[in-house]
Amino acid sequence: MPSLLIVLLVFLLLAGVSPSPQPATGGGGDRDTLLAITNAWGRPPGLSSWDPASSTDHCTWKGVTCASAADDASTRAVTELSLPALDLRGTVPTPVCSLKHLARLDLSHNRLAGSFPGAALSACARLRFLDLSHNLFSAPLLPPADDDVQGSRSLSPALAHLNLSANRLDGEFPAAVARLTALQSLHLDANRLAGAIPDALSGLASLTLLNASSNRLTGAVPAWAFRHARLRRLYLSDNDLSGELLPPRGVGVASVTAASSLAELDLSMNRLTGEIPDGLRALRNLTLLFLYKNRLTGTIPAWVFRHRKLQQLCLDENGFSGDLPRDITAHNLVLLNLSGNRLSGEIPRGFGHLKNLKRLFLQNNRFTGRLC
Ligand SMILES: *[C@@H]1O[C@H](CO)[C@@H](O)[C@H](O)[C@H]1NC(C)=O
Ligand SMILES: *[C@@H]1O[C@H](CO)[C@@H](O)[C@H](O)[C@H]1NC(C)=O
Ligand SMILES: *[C@@H]1O[C@H](CO)[C@@H](O)[C@H](O)[C@H]1NC(C)=O
Ligand SMILES: *[C@@H]1O[C@H](CO)[C@@H](O)[C@H](O)[C@H]1NC(C)=O
Repeated sequence: MPSLLIVLLVFLLLAGVSPSPQPATGGGGDRDTLLAITNAWGRPPGLSSWDPASSTDHCTWKGVTCASAADDASTRAVTELSLPALDLRGTVPTPVCSLKHLARLDLSHNRLAGSFPGAALSACARLRFLDLSHNLFSAPLLPPADDDVQGSRSLSPALAHLNLSANRLDGEFPAAVARLTALQSLHLDANRLAGAIPDALSGLASLTLLNASSNRLTGAVPAWAFRHARLRRLYLSDNDLSGELLPPRGVGVASVTAASSLAELDLSMNRLTGEIPDGLRALRNLTLLFLYKNRLTGTIPAWVFRHRKLQQLCLDENGFSGDLPRDITAHNLVLLNLSGNRLSGEIPRGFGHLKNLKRLFLQNNRFTGRLC
């Protein structure tokens, strides 16, 4: 039958032009995957070098980095895609994870949207770095634990850096990130996340940075952050956190903070109350302490002004009162902001001896005397 012949011919033709199967780690396979990715994005102008007609090695295409696979030095596999600010639209194409050796994916500053592409990215088993910041992704960030069939939709457990800043993620703070046990940095700032910061994050033993500033988070400052051995930078500014800085006395606060490695603590612009607890003095490596625009009260403890490492101290716009200590020996201070409180007494002469101090703000208090 002629029609059968035509079908057969068409089939043979198609088989002829389609690429022959490549090994999973092979260059040809990755090249096809890259083409599938740019097709899924509608061939954006920024990726014009990703051209099927191009005779160049795909490892030289824009944003593509290849390396020899550790398990097979003869093949070069795509290990990195760095495609920030290319006006990409749509979502994360499913074929991305066919790049079996992909370790680093940066799609920041684009216009990618839709719900968080957890399903597409769950197959990227070697992904260590994922930057989807400054896009238009919305919730759900990751599926809740019980919705997750044997972790199949979860991100790679190898993930060390996850940056989702400045998207439109809403709903509760995603407790599912606690399953990413290799996480070192987590940026969820500038989204619309609500609810409390889950205690389960305390299990992220390698976490050094958490930024969840500029969300709608409520509840207390997470107590585990003060006994975490690795966490160096905690940014929770511009939320609705309430209560005191540390849990009430009797919970072993001193021993809690002694183990802490916190160097940068930003809790500004929340609704925190109470005094600056003595327990915080155990944070010997603190270089930055921002507590401005809260409802903190009491006198500012003298140890704050004798701290050896503090460089930036902003306590402005609170209800602090009382005198400042006479001797000020925090010689590393570069920025000190005490404006907008009810501080009184003489302005300590010690300020004049701080050699590194560049910016000092004392206005809107009840100080007497003058700075000399
Ligand atoms: C996102 O976070 C990562 C890891 O901390 C960082 O290297 C990267 O520069 C951040 N991205 C942007 C666009 O700032
Ligand atoms: C934390 O997030 C805020 C808000 O997006 C941003 O302004 C700040 O630079 C971030 N800081 C760090 C250390 O990531
Ligand atoms: C404080 O910093 C020093 C020097 O950077 C470091 O050796 C030490 O381990 C830090 N302490 C804590 C508790 O992280
Ligand atoms: C110091 O505090 C005042 C009052 O809150 C504020 O207007 C000013 O921007 C602050 N300056 C710095 C450098 O923090």
